[in-house]
Amino acid sequence: MEIQDHSQRLLRDERFLLSQRPLVSQYECFPSGYENIRKKDCQDNPKKGIQTEQTGMIHQRRSIFMKASFAIVGCGRVGCALAGQMQRAGYRPAGLASKSLSSARDAAEQLGTELFSDKPWEVTKHADVVFITTPDGQIENAASLLADKQGVKKNAVVLHCSGSQPSTILSVLKPCGVSIGSLHPLQSFASKQMEGNPFENIIAAIEGEPDAVAMASRIATDLSATCLTIRTDAKTAYHAAAVVASNYLVAIQDLAFRLLALAGIPPENAFPVLGPLIQGTVANIKKVGTQKALTGPIVRGDTDTVRTHVHEIRRLAPDLLSLYQCLGRHTVLVAESGGNINEEKAAELLALLSES
Ligand SMILES: NC(=O)c1ccc[n+]([C@@H]2O[C@H](COP(=O)([O-])OP(=O)(O)OC[C@H]3O[C@@H](n4cnc5c(N)ncnc54)[C@H](OP(=O)(O)O)[C@@H]3O)[C@@H](O)[C@H]2O)c1
Repeated sequence: MEIQDHSQRLLRDERFLLSQRPLVSQYECFPSGYENIRKKDCQDNPKKGIQTEQTGMIHQRRSIFMKASFAIVGCGRVGCALAGQMQRAGYRPAGLASKSLSSARDAAEQLGTELFSDKPWEVTKHADVVFITTPDGQIENAASLLADKQGVKKNAVVLHCSGSQPSTILSVLKPCGVSIGSLHPLQSFASKQMEGNPFENIIAAIEGEPDAVAMASRIATDLSATCLTIRTDAKTAYHAAAVVASNYLVAIQDLAFRLLALAGIPPENAFPVLGPLIQGTVANIKKVGTQKALTGPIVRGDTDTVRTHVHEIRRLAPDLLSLYQCLGRHTVLVAESGGNINEEKAAELLALLSES
C-alpha cells in the first residue's frame, strides 16, 4: 500500500479550481435511436451549479468545482491515456492501481501523484468514478475483487472501456450501490504515453445505467470526444462494425497489395500506387454514402471483367480467390440495393462469384 494522505493535495486542487473561470458543461441530446451529445460551455453561478435542460437520457448538474475524483484499475495503454487526460480536464485522481505495482507507480509518476497501489480496492474506495481498464478477460475478476473488498463507495460510478463487453459484466458490484456502465473510446491506443489528447474528436460509445451514462457522457465531452449512446444489447454488433471498419480494412488492403504484387508491383510501392484510390474512395463514402461511392465492374454489371478476374486469380493465386469472391458477393448486394443492377444481372454475377 503506497497511498499517502492526500488532503494537502486536494486543498491545493481546490485553490487552483477556485482561481479558474467558472465553467460548466451543458449537453444537448438528439435522440434518434442513439443520441449525439454536444458540449456547450457556458458561465453560471459556480456556487449554485447549473440546472441544464434535460433532453434524452442526459442530465447534467455539475460545475467545475464539483468535478469527480477518479480511480484507474489497470495502468495500461487506455488507463494511462484516460488518467492523463482526465487530470488535464480537471478531474481529481483518487488513485491508480494495476496488477503490478511497477505499472501503477510508472503511471502515478507520469501523473505527478503518489496515490498508487497494486491493491485496487485501496484506491477505488475514495473515487467518485472508477475505470476498470484491464484487458477484457480481466474486467469481471477486477470487479469481483472490488465487490469482495467493499472497495467502492455508495453512489460511485464504475465504468469499463471494452468495446465488445456490455456493462452488465460489472453487475457483481450492484449490491455496493454503484451505477455501472461502459465507455468505449473508438481509438487505437498504442502506448502508455499520457501526452497529447487521444480522445479529441473521437467517438466514445457509452451504455449502462442512467447515472453511469450521465457521468460517462460528461467525462467524454470534457475529453473533447463525441458521445454515442448505444443499447447494452447492441454492444457486440457495434464492436463487430468497428472491427470490420478498421481491422478488415487492413486485411482488404493486404489482399489488394498481394494482387498488385502479381502484376509485378512490389509491396513497398503498393501504397503509393493504391493510396490515392483508397483515400478518394473513403472521401466519396463520406460525401455520398456507400451505395453511391461504389464504382467498378460490379456496379456496371460488367460480367466479362469479373469473369476474367476470377479466372486469373484462380490461375495465379488460388488461395486469394475465396476472399475476392466473398467480398464480390457483398458488393453485388450493395450494387443491387443501390438500384444500379437488376435482379437478373445480380444473379449472374453471384453465380460467377460462387464458382469454386
Ligand atoms: N488499446 C486500445 O487501442 C483500446 C481501444 C479501446 C478500448 N480498449 C479497451 O481498454 C481496456 C484496456 O485495454 P489496453 O489496451 O489499455 O490494455 P493493456 O495495455 O494491456 O493494459 C491493461 C493493464 O491492466 C493491468 N491488469 C491486468 N489484469 C489486471 C487485474 N486483474 N487487475 C488490475 N490490473 C490488471 C495490466 O497489468 P500490469 O499491471 O501488469 O501492467 C495492464 O497494465 C480493454 O477493455 C480494451 O478492450 C483498448
